[in-house]
Amino acid sequence: MSEEIKVKVEHLTKSFGDLLVLDDISFEVKKGEFLCIVGPTGCGKTTFLNSLCKLYDIDSGSITMNGKPIDLKRDDIAYIFQEYSTMSWLTVEENIRYGLKIKHCGEALMRERVENVMEMVGLTKYRNYYPRQLSASMLQRVVIARAFAVEPQLLLMDEPYGQLDLQLKYHLEDELINLWRKTGTTVIFITHNIEEAVYLSNRILVLTNKPTKVKESIENPLPRPRKVSAPEFVEIRERVTELIKWW
Ligand SMILES: Nc1ncnc2c1ncn2[C@@H]1O[C@H](COP(=O)(O)OP(=O)(O)OP(=O)(O)O)[C@@H](O)[C@H]1O
Ligand SMILES: [Mg+2]
Repeated sequence: MSEEIKVKVEHLTKSFGDLLVLDDISFEVKKGEFLCIVGPTGCGKTTFLNSLCKLYDIDSGSITMNGKPIDLKRDDIAYIFQEYSTMSWLTVEENIRYGLKIKHCGEALMRERVENVMEMVGLTKYRNYYPRQLSASMLQRVVIARAFAVEPQLLLMDEPYGQLDLQLKYHLEDELINLWRKTGTTVIFITHNIEEAVYLSNRILVLTNKPTKVKESIENPLPRPRKVSAPEFVEIRERVTELIKWW
């Protein structure tokens, strides 16, 4: 991880009508960092990602990437929504290709990436299926594969593994770590699962209830591969658990 700042959030404030959600939030994400954000339900985690991607206007403050205001045309950002979304008229393979197509990626590279990620999430057999023929967890795998295929500079993930069975979840967590190490991408990953946050992250940002502020930022330098039963692992998990007990 470098010292270079990838994403900088300064005095970010966002409300919906009278409801103040994000209350003067500031933090930075370094290039190549894997940041997990945990916070109570409804505190504004999705609102933050939507604000970053300009789906929402913010009231005040700023979010920059590489020192400039976010520009979705220039900045390579992939966003895996909490409500995962596939395109119903496209097959599994076409859905995964879509992200690369809009980036005008060459055919050979596109084919290689699509094959790799389809294999990774176990969907090769289902490449010609349409979303209506898939289970919820398979749909989620399509969305994850589409994001991974573009090897983005910044990968935003909003509780992406919540619906998956445990075995697949562990597999995709490890794949995510492999991809992250291979590409040096910066990841912001939202989860309710503290163990998952400690397993994946370099750092965990704990948010408060609304109006939401950053409660604490916890460094997580544990060596990888991590073992959930290791005493150092348990220690960090307990620190985070202690913080969220007082939500
Ligand atoms: N488009 C919107 N219009 C009005 N209120 C909204 C809108 N989007 C979110 N909110 C409100 O803003 C607050 C934050 O919502 P958000 O979805 O960001 O929370 P969250 O932290 O992602 O929650 P969860 O953990 O349940 O996913 C909630 O009180 C929600 O009702
Ligand atoms: Mg949310």
